[in-house]
Formats: sequence, C-alpha cells, structure tokens
Amino acid sequence: MSKHIDQRQLDNEPEFNRFIDAAMNRRNFLRAAGAAGSVAFFAASPVAKAVAGSMDKSKLMGFEAIPASTADTVVVPDGYVAETLISWGDALFPNSPKFSQSNDSKAQEMQYGDNTDGMTFFPLSNDRAVLVANNEYTNNEYLYTHQGKNISADDVRKGQAAHGVSIIELVKKDGKWEVNTEGRLNRKITAYTPMEMTGPARGDDLLKTKADPEGGETILGTYNNCANGQTPWGTYLACEENFNGYFAASEEVDLGPTYKRYGVKDKDWGYDWWKHDERFDVAKTPNEPHRFGWVVEIDPMDPNSKPKKRSALGRFKHENAALTINKDGHVVVYLGDDERGEHLYKFVSKNKYKPGTHASNRDLLEEGTLYVAKFDGKEGELNGKGEWVELTFGKNGLTQENGFKSQAEVMIFAREAATQVGATTMDRPEWVAVHPDNKHVFCTLTNNKYRGVRENQPLNVVNPREKNPYGHIIRWEPQDGDHTASDFKWDIFVMTGNPEVQEGLMAGTPNINKDNMFNSPDGIGFDGAGRLWIQTDGKYSNEGNFAGMGNNQMLCADTKTGEIRRFLTGPIACEITGLTFSPDYKTMFVGIQHPGEDLAPSHFPDGGDSVPRSTVMRITRKDGGVIGA
Ligand code: FEO
Ligand code: CA
Ligand code: CA
Ligand code: CA
Repeated sequence: MSKHIDQRQLDNEPEFNRFIDAAMNRRNFLRAAGAAGSVAFFAASPVAKAVAGSMDKSKLMGFEAIPASTADTVVVPDGYVAETLISWGDALFPNSPKFSQSNDSKAQEMQYGDNTDGMTFFPLSNDRAVLVANNEYTNNEYLYTHQGKNISADDVRKGQAAHGVSIIELVKKDGKWEVNTEGRLNRKITAYTPMEMTGPARGDDLLKTKADPEGGETILGTYNNCANGQTPWGTYLACEENFNGYFAASEEVDLGPTYKRYGVKDKDWGYDWWKHDERFDVAKTPNEPHRFGWVVEIDPMDPNSKPKKRSALGRFKHENAALTINKDGHVVVYLGDDERGEHLYKFVSKNKYKPGTHASNRDLLEEGTLYVAKFDGKEGELNGKGEWVELTFGKNGLTQENGFKSQAEVMIFAREAATQVGATTMDRPEWVAVHPDNKHVFCTLTNNKYRGVRENQPLNVVNPREKNPYGHIIRWEPQDGDHTASDFKWDIFVMTGNPEVQEGLMAGTPNINKDNMFNSPDGIGFDGAGRLWIQTDGKYSNEGNFAGMGNNQMLCADTKTGEIRRFLTGPIACEITGLTFSPDYKTMFVGIQHPGEDLAPSHFPDGGDSVPRSTVMRITRKDGGVIGA
C-alpha cells in the first residue's frame, strides 16, 4: 500500500484500515490489470478471496447471521425474540377507540400514528420510561376504506392526525417493556398541534401568513417527521422531511426557483389536504411551505409544552439530527438533507452545554452556526479530506448581490446557500450517527439514480458510482476529534452491492458478500458498545440486480474489522426504520414501516386477511443478555 494512503487513514480503527488497505490494493491491482468492468472481480479475484479469508471475525458481535427472507414476518437470530409493541391505530389513552380502517379523525387523534419512523427511549426510572416516535406519513391504500378515491374533510383531518409524533409511556412488567395507556405523559402531536418558530427565521416576512402575522408565533403542526435525535437535556428532535408533497395550488400560480428547489409544485402527492385545509393551497397561503422543513424540539416530559422549530438548523428535507456534545461543551448536530444531489450539514451551538443545569440548556439550539460539507480527495480512492463551510449571511458569498437578504433567508433557503458556497452534492444523505468514542461519525448515502446522469450531479470522490443503485456509508473524523473544527478526514466504510451479479464498484466493497448483501442503507445508530446497526429502505424485488437481498432488513457492523452481519429481516414490502434501546441495551426497539405498501400482499403484524400496519417491534434475548453481544 502506498504511503500516501497510510497518511489518509482514519485514526483508532487499525483493523478496519488494514482491511480497507487490502481493498485498495485490490482496486489498484485490478486497474493495473485492466480488469475493472470485465469480470466479477470482487468475487473472483484471488486478492478478494484473500481479503475475505483474512477478515478478523468480530468479537463485538455474538449472534449468528440470518439468511435473506421474503416471508411476511420479522425474523431475528436464534436466541432472540421479536414481538409487537405498538402498531398504527393502537390505543394511546385508556378511552382510545379500537383500531378499525374506518376510524375517523377523532379516533386517530387518540391512537398511535401511521408509518412509524425515528424514535427515542427516555428512561424515567428502572421500570418506567417514555417512548417518543415519529409517524412519518400515511398510505391512502390503507388509511381509508375507499383507498383515497374520495377524500373528505374528516379524511384530511384523520390523515393529519395520523402524522406527527406519538408520545407513549412504557412500563416494565415481568422483565418486558409494555405500553402504558394510563401514562400521564402520553400525547399525540399532529399536523395541527400549535408550535412556534425560534432562531433567525422567526418573524421573517417569508414566514408570515394571514393566520400568523407574526411569522412564527403559531405554526400549526409538524408532519413527514422522518428520523430523529435527542438531547442530553431530555428533549426529542423530530425532523421534517418531504413537506413539499402536501402542497398544491387551486389556481395558476408562479412558483419561482426557491419553491422548485424544495420540490413545492402545484400538485401534491395525493394527500389532498389542500382541498380541505387552505394552508396547503399555495395559491392561497404561499408562505406556508416556508414554515416546514425544520427540526422540531419537543419536551416529552411536559405534555403541555409547545414544540419549538429550530430555524438555526436550516430548512431542508431533514433526515435525522445526530447530536453530540463536543469536548469543549459546544453542542454539535450533524444533519442530512435526503434528496438526490443535496448536502450534508453541521450545526454548532453558540453557547455551551452545562451538565445537569437543564434550564440553561433549553435554548442551546436557538443560536449557532450552520456549516455544509465539502469533500476532497483523489479520483478512484475511497478516502480523502474535507471541510465545513460556514453558512452565515455576509460570508462566503452569502450576500445581497447573490440573492440573500439576511441570516433568516440563508436558513430558509439553506439549499441555495449550500450551492452558493460550493458544497459537495451527495447521494441522498440519510441518517448520521456518532460513534460512542465521540470521534468517528457515519452517514448513510442511500442511493441516487441521477448520479453521473444529471449535469448538476457529476461523479465525485465521495459519490463515485454512476446511478448508485445500492448506496454506501461514509465515515469522517474531525481534526483532533474536535467536532467544531473545520477540517476532517473521511473514508467509505462500505459500498453495498451485489457480488453475485455485478462486477467492479457495483459488486461492493469486500465487506459485502453473498451472505450479507443489502441495498439502500438508511437508518443507522450505535449501541453503547459501538456496534453499528444498519437499517434498509431499498428495493425488495429480490430479482435482477437485487437478487439474493430479500425484504428490507437490519444488519450489525463492527466498524473496527469492517464485518457486517444480517440481524433482522422484515415482512413484505416494508422498510426498516427507527431504532432505540433501553439503557441496559437488553431491549431494542425497531420500526417496521409500511408493510404491504402499494397493496403488496402483507398482513403484518396481525395475519389472516387483516390490514397491514406499521409497527414498533420489541426485541429481546431469551437469556436476557445484551442485544448483539
Ligand atoms: Fe424518510 Fe429519507 O427517509
Ligand atoms: Ca429514512
Ligand atoms: Ca430512505
Ligand atoms: Ca420511509
């Protein structure tokens, strides 16, 4: 291996570095041999076999990998149990109506929302906790008995009540965490719960509407809350993602480039909210789209608290909010914008976290600096350097003459600001996770059919695969382990792929083999021991380029050795998303989202001829041990 690569290696990961060095050697070998693209070289080359054979078997993971599955159920390894904790339509309160597909909006307000996504377990005591979970969106084909053919005003209200955030107390009974419908913290936050804007965008003209002339004093609701984050001061972060899909126009309107950049059009994605709620009619309420696309901070310990949208973290299609406390006390939040060719961001708080003094931490996310990532490196290598570029009005070309009037506008149009400063276009940044060593940060880049196809998304060092059908996971390490530093080193932890039917880069890095293939990594999170859990939202055809991958799944990785093992497989046409643990790591909660989407033949979890329902699973070990160990 060249010296040059050695210099670029990430620190503290010697075993993985050896492994990736071998991979790089193999790539150079193949380039020299002119073999790239001519044979299934990852699978066939003697170098690859040597790499696979020498991979250190992980001491971190103690379970036996499971095979891919196309069954309509959740499968976990031997010695583990996966059970339903709560599903769409289940009771949040003692008097909640029983689930039925014909439930109305009043019923849905009292029931667990649809399309469970990011979630956090907040312990209250040894046997009491509160689970906060996003309910991202709805599927007309299941939400309504008419499958969305004739959406009434109450149907819209029901849809809005099925979105948002569910807060539910858990109680430990006979060693298992169960839902407590009597919990006094139980709450349903919907697409019409009052909340407020904080930070630089509050009060800006672009946020003013007839109903809220103050521009952020009262914003109704949050919706399309994808993934999440949590703070050490006990609050929850719900991230607004595809907010654009809910807006339409009742008459011809001129939606300029700032609407276009966020995908707001005169047609919605079929929710029909605009027909019965004029907030979602851009012809009538043109500023409403500016009030969504934010990170929302929620205090689950106070059911009467007003959620706060944090405009200092920028407006885009937020995936999650990976928060860490830097060694100097600054709060750092890593943020992905999940759209093809969009960007990766970092927020650094102005003030510092004070352990234990909760009151002074409450507004840490109100003020700070947003940065966007710019990656550098040599073509053909899977590592390099990068820098964080500041998005502050008056700096880096974010000026009047380039179309930005204020810091408020830099935050509201964060995507345009990122383009202005020359940020790297990415293959759909999904979740970010900070390793418990607080030095290494990982991000999933789920896939990108426009990479190398659209002019504004050429191949680049960190997104090197044309059309990237499988996705990859990158890793970076800030200089001196300081998350406020502008410089970082990066590498690619895994390029997923299909070594059975592909060759070259499409086969994947050597830590992908026929037994652990997957595509479209999305949710990721670490447990306390440093196991990286990877959830997929990918193609589940199990054919062609995706043959052998089966249904969506969850895997576990040892980031030191690079080894990846399949841990869980989901039911038909679902996505696996949402991950949290009890503090002893003996219970894991995993979200099964939209089983049976587009009328695929799933009846998960109830079986028979039941309507499939998004569900949070509770995973434990029969011997009561730590999950994954
Ligand atoms: Fe809601 Fe980017 O996934
Ligand atoms: Ca996702
Ligand atoms: Ca996804
Ligand atoms: Ca999803």
